[in-house]
Amino acid sequence: MVTLMPKIMPVFGTRPEAIKMAPLIKALEEKENIETITIVTAQHREMLDQVLKLFKIKPVYDLNIMKPGQSLTEIMTGVLAGIEEIISQEKPDLVLVHGDTSTTFASSLAAFYQKIPVGHVEAGLRTYSKYSPYPEEMNRKLTGCLADLHFAPTQTAKEALLKEGVPAGQIYVTGNTVIDALLQTVNKGYVFKNAILKQLDFDNKRIILITAHRRENIGERMEQIFQAVKVLVEQHDDIEVVYPVHLNPLVQERAQKIFGDIERVRMIPPLTYEEFVNLMDRCYLVLTDSGGLQEEAPALGKPVLVLRDTTERPEAVIAGTVRLVGTDQERIVAESTLLLTDPVVYQRMSTAINPYGDGKAAERICQAILYYFRLNPTRPEEYSIET
Ligand code: UD1
Ligand code: UDP
Repeated sequence: MVTLMPKIMPVFGTRPEAIKMAPLIKALEEKENIETITIVTAQHREMLDQVLKLFKIKPVYDLNIMKPGQSLTEIMTGVLAGIEEIISQEKPDLVLVHGDTSTTFASSLAAFYQKIPVGHVEAGLRTYSKYSPYPEEMNRKLTGCLADLHFAPTQTAKEALLKEGVPAGQIYVTGNTVIDALLQTVNKGYVFKNAILKQLDFDNKRIILITAHRRENIGERMEQIFQAVKVLVEQHDDIEVVYPVHLNPLVQERAQKIFGDIERVRMIPPLTYEEFVNLMDRCYLVLTDSGGLQEEAPALGKPVLVLRDTTERPEAVIAGTVRLVGTDQERIVAESTLLLTDPVVYQRMSTAINPYGDGKAAERICQAILYYFRLNPTRPEEYSIET
């Protein structure tokens, strides 16, 4: 059945979802035969708002659910109840969610309860380890069970979905919208606004960019990561560490305790996306437990040491620009030292590769949505990895 002017409802709540949904929302808004009603749960507040501002996205509804130190149950119940009410009023033709957060799973469940089809952006990433990342692996898997349209960024993600019995006709390989956002934002002539970034001596110092926030790393594992960074700073005079600290109070507390006033570890509040990716473009090395950074840094040719035991993003590991090093202090020091002292190893890991996208993912997803509603006669061509 042809649906004229389908009502599409993108829902998101955290910083990474906002960054990766932004190019898609912009592309949807340009389509004359689609009505777009953007909802934010505001599972994050400041970290979400900076992205909305940058990409000039004006949500129609804002659930404003964030509480300091919120539990997973609080997020789930807040989103479920809030989205249910909006869906009842708006009666969308498709709810669009992204990735693996609690907002993602709760919004999909709310749509399912009212028999509204769900489109899952960044579908099919798997570690096959229930608690790693926690709770994201299960959030993504459960969302996949509820979805009717699966936008897999890569062939690997598509294969994972096929293995789980998702019909091939429901899967579209689109590339990851993270690369769309990155290509729109990184600029070689960018001038930093942040006072600390402005003062960094990029010519004479090697900048190590670090981020860490995963729930399963909070506590002893995060302590090991921070101690490793401390050792690296003591051993190498020419490095400066920049650490935009996640607003989670548990992360803030631990970081403050270990880094205190170490001069060459610049602990700063989260950066705007624009400042952050342009800093990444000029840094020497990235240490992170983030998901999105594993996709962005390889595209910029920056080596990444991933502070986790598993990854749902194997493509850049296989290509050699990302290494999974875990959270053991000695291992982090050893792997970082190798990259700081061996130019051949560094060179090998800093080749720019783009296994995650070509900047056209948002448009492919739009075309797939139009195809689903019979407003586009042909299925969009699959994204294939650039080599
Ligand atoms: C969430 C997602 C995780 C994602 C991460 C991105 C879940 C379960 N986790 O984790 O998948 O990788 O976001 O950053 O969905 N806070 C603020 N202001 C903000 C944002 C957070 O103050 O703008 C503080 C609040 O005290 C909040 C806490 O950080 O309670 C934790 O936020 P929450 O969304 O619960 O979990 P994250 O660890 O950020
Ligand atoms: N990011 C940002 N400011 C920062 C740190 C990260 O804008 O200070 C961006 C980064 O470019 C990436 C995303 O936030 O696109 C990653 O978010 P996060 O690490 O919070 O979540 P994850 O990717 O692990 O889900």
